[in-house]
Amino acid sequence: MSEHLPVRERLRAALSATTRRLGEAGLESPSVDARALIAHAAGTDRPLVMLDELPPGFSAELERLTVRREHREPLQLILGRAPFRRLMLAVRPGVFIPRPETELALDLLREHSTGELAHVVDLCAGSGALGATVLDELPAARVLSVEIDETAAQLAAENLELAGPGRGRVLQADLLTQIPELAAAAPVDAVLSNPPYIPPDAVPRDPEVIEHDPHRALFGGGEDGLEVPHAVIAWSARLLRPGGVLIMEHADVQGPAAREAASEHGGFDLLSTAPDLTGRDRFLVARRAPVAPTHGSERLTR
Ligand SMILES: C[S@@+](CC[C@H](N)C(=O)[O-])C[C@H]1O[C@@H](n2cnc3c(N)ncnc32)[C@H](O)[C@@H]1O
Repeated sequence: MSEHLPVRERLRAALSATTRRLGEAGLESPSVDARALIAHAAGTDRPLVMLDELPPGFSAELERLTVRREHREPLQLILGRAPFRRLMLAVRPGVFIPRPETELALDLLREHSTGELAHVVDLCAGSGALGATVLDELPAARVLSVEIDETAAQLAAENLELAGPGRGRVLQADLLTQIPELAAAAPVDAVLSNPPYIPPDAVPRDPEVIEHDPHRALFGGGEDGLEVPHAVIAWSARLLRPGGVLIMEHADVQGPAAREAASEHGGFDLLSTAPDLTGRDRFLVARRAPVAPTHGSERLTR
């Protein structure tokens, strides 16, 4: 593309060519991605119509970005950031990219919490999206995030520090093991979690997901994908104060299984499933019983 054409004409040509190429690569919304790549190549966050000059090397940079997206590298990884509620989070290769549907967990937390929300735990933190949002939206809250992966734990620490300096802490640990430092955090007011939950036979098709999200972030373990979610439920029963709530994301077919797991584990008195904005069952909402219930063979007898 000639560097001598007026800016408006160069942008129009770039938008049309990039949209066409991304459409041919199979993207669902090629013009949205094209606009984002053009803005990134131009080094601006302003609307494209407001640009009156383009940096030297704009065309070469746009070509590099377009080729990456044609190869189905996620847009967020190319841009190095992902929007999540009010925040713009840093993202990094090898770490799960936060999804818009997870944003709803914060609304559910507000809706179902009673009492103060001073201490919140985020289990399976990834980039730290949920914990960072708590710090951003609840200025008095402190957050403890737990994440197994070293790169993700480092990224979560950075995102937490930006969202609420000095109020967030990250533990790099495996929830399937004993974690004395996590146990010592009890009692907490709420647990948020978007754990891995996909069963082994439900492999995602999109190249952005299966080739770029780490498999440990996708597949939850066990035949039903619920091994890590079970650990989240068990940790929540241990950590929550009486009346504290767990909000845990799961797949749309896992509502009954998640409620059953929490019910069988014991320690919760209110269990429900909340839908996402498209009406699909996506979140377990569980309230820690005010007094630990006695059940089955554990019932006291005199
Ligand atoms: C679906 S991703 C969600 C990340 C983040 N909560 C979000 O919503 O963007 C699940 C995360 O759980 C972590 N994870 C998987 N198994 C774990 C385990 N046993 N203990 C702690 N973290 C685990 C993965 O590394 C991954 O970062």
